[in-house]
Amino acid sequence: MKFPPIIQGGMGVAVSGWQLALSVSLRGQIGVVSGTAIDLVITRRLQLGDPGGHLRRALAAFPNPDIARYIADRYFIEGGKAPDQPFKSKPVIDHNPRRRAQELLVVSNFVEVFLAKEGHAGLVGINYLHKIQTPLMPSIYGAMLAGVDIIIIGAGIPLEVPNIIDHLVRHEPVEMKFPVRTAEGTRIEKLTFDPKLIFDETRPPAKRPFFFPIVSSVTLATLMVKKCEGGVDGLIIEGPTAGGHNAPPRGRPNLTEEGEPIYGPRDDIDLDAIGSHGLPFFLAGSYGSPDGLVRARAAGAAGIQVGTLFAFCEESGMRQDLKRDTIARCQAGTQRVFTDPIASPTGFPFKVLSIAGTASEADVYENRQRVCDLSYLREAFEKEDGTIGWRCSADVEEIYVSKRGKLEDTVGRKCLCNGLMANIGMGQFRKNTGEEVPLLTCGDGVSSILKVMKPGETSYSSSDVIDFLLNSSAS
Ligand SMILES: Cc1cc2nc3c(=O)[nH]c(=O)nc-3n(C[C@H](O)[C@H](O)[C@H](O)COP(=O)(O)O)c2cc1C
Repeated sequence: MKFPPIIQGGMGVAVSGWQLALSVSLRGQIGVVSGTAIDLVITRRLQLGDPGGHLRRALAAFPNPDIARYIADRYFIEGGKAPDQPFKSKPVIDHNPRRRAQELLVVSNFVEVFLAKEGHAGLVGINYLHKIQTPLMPSIYGAMLAGVDIIIIGAGIPLEVPNIIDHLVRHEPVEMKFPVRTAEGTRIEKLTFDPKLIFDETRPPAKRPFFFPIVSSVTLATLMVKKCEGGVDGLIIEGPTAGGHNAPPRGRPNLTEEGEPIYGPRDDIDLDAIGSHGLPFFLAGSYGSPDGLVRARAAGAAGIQVGTLFAFCEESGMRQDLKRDTIARCQAGTQRVFTDPIASPTGFPFKVLSIAGTASEADVYENRQRVCDLSYLREAFEKEDGTIGWRCSADVEEIYVSKRGKLEDTVGRKCLCNGLMANIGMGQFRKNTGEEVPLLTCGDGVSSILKVMKPGETSYSSSDVIDFLLNSSAS
């Protein structure tokens, strides 16, 4: 299989929504939707009145109408909810999710991929974070029911995923290991999912998607290629300048005076070793330029994965005012991206774009009342009685400590779940504290967005990004 040279990076939460992925796939490149928290996104889009009726159209296409109808009835609000009304909650996913929670996952992933694939034959991928394990299997199944072409997974070691895809394509039950933190270390438990929950009769998805893990080292790439039962179809090699989460530096962590992780020669990736696996690979992390594409190809890559340039284009799901503000900052030369080693409850470094009024600013962060109500980044821990509990280090400190967590692990943690929902205009409204504030991420090379824009313009489209990346490289 020969893949197009540009993968539009999967960007959570819903920054790479179906509109962006659709626009990229229509241009013959690989559009990618984000599957992270997509169940939450779909329920909130329905509560905002589903402008244009797209979600309801996709729901009507879901092969089990009873399940789709239940979701529409439960969450859709004609004309949208009032701005000072909180969004209705949806079930939180743990190791024993309720049937309705699993159905919502399957349907939401179906809907997002269905809309991105509607009306064309281009390639559409879906991106997940392996760290967020509990929703993963029903999510993959839902995406497969909509005919997703590529499953892309970063932030972890998704060794079991190809095997899971193989079982799901045969409509068979699947399982996946997950770690539970104990007082002494970690114990391993199992998550399960049975597609018969959605359809009694055997109704396999139409095709098996490709699987591309995102890796940041030769060791991990080799492990994935050699140990994945079911096989890897391509690799995305992501360096530490990419937007979103980054792999931590190898060796003992050192920080700059400002507190950013220091990456060194040990973090350089030997691309010859990557190429020796004979699989197509794509380079990510500041490759979003014509020269980046030329360099990637010269190194043997099939292409590049680009996020930051697409994050601020017209079709991305990000709030318009945040795009405008960022573009203006880049024009003024005042943009600043900080690789925060502790903000994310996952423990991975996370890039944060400084913007007034968002959680990048110390005072805004301090003023936010801690709460964990979306719960995607929780970790499982062993309770005193041996049963499994869930905790997030960005939750209220006392709650985290009462769940056998260490107080020092809560310091500087930021609620990515609520912040990322606010980035796309779906921040929760709380009666006592108002609306949740955004927390923006982007790559170190954010100022490159200026190169995509035509003189005098203040916005650009995904097509402008593709023209910029491709046309100039031909000249
Ligand atoms: C706003 C934003 C959100 C992102 N979210 C995710 C994500 O949820 N999962 C993921 O694997 N990568 C995520 N990424 C990384 C992109 O998929 C892509 O690999 C990266 O942006 C490429 O490097 P660049 O930012 O220099 O273009 C995100 C990047 C950005 C800019």
